[in-house]
Amino acid sequence: MKGVILAGGKATRLRPLTFVTNKHLLPVYSKPMIFYPLEAMAKAGVKDVLIVTSSEHCGDFMNLLRSGQTFGLRLSYEIQEEAGGLAQALSLARGFAEDKDKILMILGDNIFRHNLKKAVSDFQRQKKGAKIFFKEMENCAQYGVPVFGGNGKLLKIEEKPKRPKSKYAQTGVYMYDDRVFDLIKKVKPSSRGEIEITDLNNLYIREGTMSYEIMGGWWIDAGTSYDELLRANNLVAELVKKGEL
Ligand code: G1P
Repeated sequence: MKGVILAGGKATRLRPLTFVTNKHLLPVYSKPMIFYPLEAMAKAGVKDVLIVTSSEHCGDFMNLLRSGQTFGLRLSYEIQEEAGGLAQALSLARGFAEDKDKILMILGDNIFRHNLKKAVSDFQRQKKGAKIFFKEMENCAQYGVPVFGGNGKLLKIEEKPKRPKSKYAQTGVYMYDDRVFDLIKKVKPSSRGEIEITDLNNLYIREGTMSYEIMGGWWIDAGTSYDELLRANNLVAELVKKGEL
């Protein structure tokens, strides 16, 4: 299994912090934000990791993270010429995955406690399809939100719905089989002109090959707003001081 971390985008919601700095390099207490998903990869036992980012910031990531040795990882870098959505960014990992490896993808602004090791080994045994992770949230309208039928059957995911049909957010942690790159080609651009990760996930759900897990512990998408970034800083500071992180 190979890892992909998406660290591109314009991060307009965090301007002016992100006018000249990539969002994923902003501090979350004592470390740049991207350190957290990189550490999650290492803990999950996924060693080969590709970082997808924009051309303007790729040099910063390489200066900061270099080979990845200090994390126990082997890092590669890929440039996303223009922001075209998360699934479009993932499509750039095709060569890296050599059309045979399964992928663990983590969004570069997602910080969480859950150890993915068991899910990785479960997914190695899953014959085909994908796996996603949900987290119960008080306000989930700013995320992808799952719609469940009877017996917890996952029917679909709605992206940033005005009226969420469940209390769960789709986190930025995804596992895909080696067919993902062909499936991305079938995803049509959304109304905002992007190839959305939620539309890709809905293809797997329709196919009946999507599994899901509810994430334990805390989870923060630190890149959604100033408040979430602040919450991530405060929470991480508290956990570090308690010796829990
Ligand atoms: C993206 C996805 C969304 C998901 C979120 C998790 O949203 O589109 O479905 O819930 O990541 O971090 P974004 O943060 O890019 O708006």
